[in-house]
Amino acid sequence: MVRFPQVVESAIIRVVRFSEQYKNIRSRLIKLSDHFSRFQKTDPRYRDAYTAYNFPVNLMKMMLLIKRLPLLHPEPFQKETIRVLDIGCGEGAGMFGLYFGVKDRKFNFTGIDSSKEALKRNGQFFRIFKQDNPDLRVSYSKKRLTLESLKRHKKRYNFVLFINTLAEIISPKRIGLEFVKSVLSLTAENGLVIIIEPALKSNTRRLMQLRESMVKNRLAHIVLPCRHHNSCPLLKIEREWCHFVIPWRPPEFIISINQGLNREIDRLKFSYLVISRSPSRYFGYTVISQLLKEKGRKKFFICTEKGRVEVFRLNRDTTSQNNEFDTINSGDLIEIDNFNLKRANLWRIEKETSVKVLQRF
Ligand SMILES: C[S@@+](CC[C@H](N)C(=O)[O-])C[C@H]1O[C@@H](n2cnc3c(N)ncnc32)[C@H](O)[C@@H]1O
Repeated sequence: MVRFPQVVESAIIRVVRFSEQYKNIRSRLIKLSDHFSRFQKTDPRYRDAYTAYNFPVNLMKMMLLIKRLPLLHPEPFQKETIRVLDIGCGEGAGMFGLYFGVKDRKFNFTGIDSSKEALKRNGQFFRIFKQDNPDLRVSYSKKRLTLESLKRHKKRYNFVLFINTLAEIISPKRIGLEFVKSVLSLTAENGLVIIIEPALKSNTRRLMQLRESMVKNRLAHIVLPCRHHNSCPLLKIEREWCHFVIPWRPPEFIISINQGLNREIDRLKFSYLVISRSPSRYFGYTVISQLLKEKGRKKFFICTEKGRVEVFRLNRDTTSQNNEFDTINSGDLIEIDNFNLKRANLWRIEKETSVKVLQRF
């Protein structure tokens, strides 16, 4: 399991002055979640609560996601200086998550945010992290981003990030293709656009719809989570939304904040989309459920270009060829060979079937 970076943990403790205000942070976190679930903007009064809880959680999501991308889309990682545009950067969960997931490169970050306080806090973190790496550069732009201002933006980046910002930048309505075109045009050759959203059904289905119109109009190549460019099988099922639940070990201070709140803090829940103007390497299937245990058998679901497929194995068919089946988690990229095709959407893993996890969060 990837560890939360110690240097970020210390930086948060220093910036938020924890010992003085555990109780405050707890009560403000409750209000903050309420705002998010109603698509409301981040209220500056909750800054410390956000920094103490949402910032590390979001940073970790970004860090885990970025670690998966070099295998699938290596080019933007090979630049001598990696240029990153973080839109609605806030405290910097996106840009710093990317940094701690990649490290050992020169980085040039641009952070855009409409909040002066958020940018100020981002600057505090930046100065702490720069002490260990003089090759970090940042520039900030305090502005309220609109579609028009996106179009006017002239520079090009290896990564363009929207980390938990779509809900604030584009309120509940459908996201238009104009937006996607403008965002893609901000990427340098082979650059990536990374969007992370909370795992709420409303946010996620909106992202799924956006992906659907992108592939229908052949606007972008999808890098993750989908490994194909056909219709999203989950979009047709009204009760479903494509989100991921990833176990992690939260830092000690989050465990302390959680006393009395009793949130499920050992799971990162999110939905996401990584797109590019250029194609990626395509192999494997994405697991889109947890491993589900039933009497005498286990199963999970994968996303394929022909739709959602249930993959099952009877316990008595467990062999060394297929025992990675037992470790499956949502979001894994896997390979399955030599299975028994019971139906197009039902694959049976048999004794001689090979199941390999190629990559996981
Ligand atoms: C939920 S926070 C996400 C911050 C950070 N990306 C993260 O994941 O922790 C949303 C951020 O977007 C900023 N924001 C909202 N609407 C914006 C707009 N139209 N232009 C620029 N920034 C905006 C807010 O000030 C806030 O810092």
